[in-house]
Amino acid sequence: MKLVIGCDHAAFGLKERIKAYLIERGDEVEDVGAFSEASVDYPQIGMQVAAGVSAGRYGRGILMCGTGLGMSMVANRFAHVRAALCNDLFSAAMSRRHNDANILVIGGRIVGDVLALEIVRVWLETSFEGGRHQRRLDLFDEVPDCNCVDRRA
Ligand code: RB5
Repeated sequence: MKLVIGCDHAAFGLKERIKAYLIERGDEVEDVGAFSEASVDYPQIGMQVAAGVSAGRYGRGILMCGTGLGMSMVANRFAHVRAALCNDLFSAAMSRRHNDANILVIGGRIVGDVLALEIVRVWLETSFEGGRHQRRLDLFDEVPDCNCVDRRA
């Protein structure tokens, strides 16, 4: 599976560690930056990763910023993106088993490198369970997006 990875300055070091880990595992990975600790605006990077996953150019993506919050907010505005902020192993596993998350988000100022690598491993190796969880994901199509007025309210 082809992966895309991105971060802002707050998680540059973690992104480099994770990229090295993915390459070591034999995954194909595209890095869209940031490429240093110089300050960047996280939506610029989050958009590139989420657009690529949304369009099907990558099977899954990994995003990191200081908390993981900003990247999650940006990524989840894209169609077909289910970005999950996972700063613990249980969330990483459940985001795959129940939510079929296709973008993993980690807070580089919250999680240490060793735990982050384990979160990535679990997230990549855990399968979606389907069944009733697929039915629930299908309902996402009925959730109004930000450009749509919800007339049911
Ligand atoms: C950058 O200072 C920080 O705001 C960013 O990395 C992220 O935590 C935003 O949600």
